[in-house]
Amino acid sequence: MLKVGMIGAGFVAGFHAKSLQSVRNVRLAGVCAPKGAQQLARTARHEGLGNTKVYSTTEELCKAVDVVAIFAPNFAHLDIMRDIARACENGASLKGIICEKPLARNLEEADVLARMAKALRVPTAYFENQLHMPSLVEARQQLASVEQTMGAVHLARSAEEHGGPHEPWFWDPTQQGGGVCCDMGCHSIAVGMYMLTPSDKPPDYLEPISVTAEMALLKWGKEPWIGRLKERGVDYSVTPAEDYSLVTIEFKDPETGVVSIAQATNSWMYDAPGLRLLMEAVGPGYSYEVNSLKSPADMFISDAAAAAVGDSELALEKSQATRGALILQHNEPSLYGYIDEWRNAAAAFEKGKDAMLNFEYGRMVTMLIMAAYMAHEKKQTIDLTNPKTLRELESYVPLIQQGKGAEVLLGAS
Ligand SMILES: NC(=O)c1ccc[n+]([C@@H]2O[C@H](COP(=O)([O-])OP(=O)(O)OC[C@H]3O[C@@H](n4cnc5c(N)ncnc54)[C@H](O)[C@@H]3O)[C@@H](O)[C@H]2O)c1
Repeated sequence: MLKVGMIGAGFVAGFHAKSLQSVRNVRLAGVCAPKGAQQLARTARHEGLGNTKVYSTTEELCKAVDVVAIFAPNFAHLDIMRDIARACENGASLKGIICEKPLARNLEEADVLARMAKALRVPTAYFENQLHMPSLVEARQQLASVEQTMGAVHLARSAEEHGGPHEPWFWDPTQQGGGVCCDMGCHSIAVGMYMLTPSDKPPDYLEPISVTAEMALLKWGKEPWIGRLKERGVDYSVTPAEDYSLVTIEFKDPETGVVSIAQATNSWMYDAPGLRLLMEAVGPGYSYEVNSLKSPADMFISDAAAAAVGDSELALEKSQATRGALILQHNEPSLYGYIDEWRNAAAAFEKGKDAMLNFEYGRMVTMLIMAAYMAHEKKQTIDLTNPKTLRELESYVPLIQQGKGAEVLLGAS
């Protein structure tokens, strides 16, 4: 039985606790967080996930568990990793370290995280749930023989969109790392690259060659939206971030030289029923599409009954309405790939190995996100085959992340 400890007890930790109900031989042994730890531990005990205890420091938690998961805000990932390293030096014996996406806010931070994990010789899992979405995995498996005969996917379009994040720190580019490109572009870039990757190759197989990007502040820089953010302590007239991003990445197959393209579109202005994940892969003579808002179930709630709605997010993540025709997804932890990413990580850690996606992979995704910000900032295509550019990216911090988004964002005042 693998004992898991979560650092952070907010939105994503809750999702992961739900997911663990469907993972064998794992129990939630501990939680450590400034806010929400008691409640998460109580729910976990109630759901039979184990005798979940609350720990007041990362070190105490690490000493009580086999696997520790970083589910805290992006600005805290690196400091938490330092605490984990210290705990290991002081005797904690870990079988695995997990970190939620994005690994870090920039490449310098991601580098340190990945190097620290390597020095500790503890296996890692970079949690990018979309690559584990059962619908995507199934489509890839069923098309594997077609792909082998006809060739790999040549164009992948991916999108993740909703109406805006739930906590103020996500909106603050200095804390989160940027706007929607850092927050959700990391998902769409990773899954786009995966759709292009031949099914018999590892997820980091393709070589990224070039990146272009367009970013803007289309909705949340205007009234009344900017005013609503101010009420939550976020001032987009001073430190704006992008609420729209389109990133195009060219990849090369290192064995055949064949070039393919991934387009990742993300926005925080998707005023629609709720969160939508969209993946479209076009190969030679075949294609597939995944749309998380297509469900076999729906509901209707009339105006007369709407007052009785308890929590509309029970039906769908980032739900935007409490009445009318509503989409119902009965098992979001499975739909979005959370359960399968746990199954993959737990099985790998039991064998002393990295999960399918490790911190090095998370570092690579961070590099692509930084290249996207650089492309937007310089209004240039970024050539990732140029060693000078790669060196520049190592210490690059986007102007948006520095809190200077007004200099580069269309739509910022
Ligand atoms: N895979 C996904 O789709 C997905 C979805 C949401 C969030 N995330 C990622 O998960 C992470 C957490 O996001 P969230 O939505 O749960 O945030 P949240 O704000 O809802 O919760 C954050 C939790 O971390 C705790 N915390 C804050 N500072 C901390 C610190 N210094 N040390 C330890 N704990 C601290 C808070 O008290 C809270 O319990 C982020 O990296 C985010 O990008 C991923």
